[in-house]
Amino acid sequence: MLNIALPKGRLGEKVYAMFEAAGFECPSIKENNRKLIFENAEKQVRYFWVKPSDVAIYVERGAADIGVAGKDILLEYEPDVYELLDLNLGKCRMAVAAPADFRDNENRTLRVATKFTNIAAAYYAGIGRQIDIIKLNGSIELAPILGLSDVIVDIVETGTTLKENNLAVMQTILPISARLIANKASFQFKGRQIESLLDQVRNQVNSCD
Ligand code: PRP
Repeated sequence: MLNIALPKGRLGEKVYAMFEAAGFECPSIKENNRKLIFENAEKQVRYFWVKPSDVAIYVERGAADIGVAGKDILLEYEPDVYELLDLNLGKCRMAVAAPADFRDNENRTLRVATKFTNIAAAYYAGIGRQIDIIKLNGSIELAPILGLSDVIVDIVETGTTLKENNLAVMQTILPISARLIANKASFQFKGRQIESLLDQVRNQVNSCD
């Protein structure tokens, strides 16, 4: 059995649809209930829904053989897993945003609110800008509005959240998309099964281009 951790939510549903099209369907997953684990013995797959930011933990520790996680999570937490494939889903970007009229004063330490403290620290270290990081867990956009920070480092998908809060992108740090990841030991011991799924899913990704 191949244990597969999917990110719960809209992205996870798209990922499942891709795996289904690749021949790894599990019809019971579409039953509308609150179950978290679904199995198809014939196809030798067991899916489970986990919080998107937890997928890499399940895979790193071997509770899942493979999973799908955002590049943002992989860069932020650097889990010890193999990154096998860019699924070209969940595309967005990591960006610096601020009130549209914000002008950076380089003589002052820049206050940066974010959930992604490692990504933000690496970005500002790379451009040699001194910052004070304020770690938040959600509603990051509030921070510059209330004067808690000067800027934010956050995910921008459509840009609607920024727009509706009178914020604008100042710099794009990097593009983000969903990645297929594998546990390192599973990749040795279930290599054949993982490679076969990888080939089929890769065909799906290429056919969506
Ligand atoms: C992300 C991000 C922004 C929003 C951007 O939040 O933190 O708030 O999406 O999307 P948009 O550009 O399409 O408006 P998410 O919905 O993942 O929730 P979270 O803040 O609770 O993580």
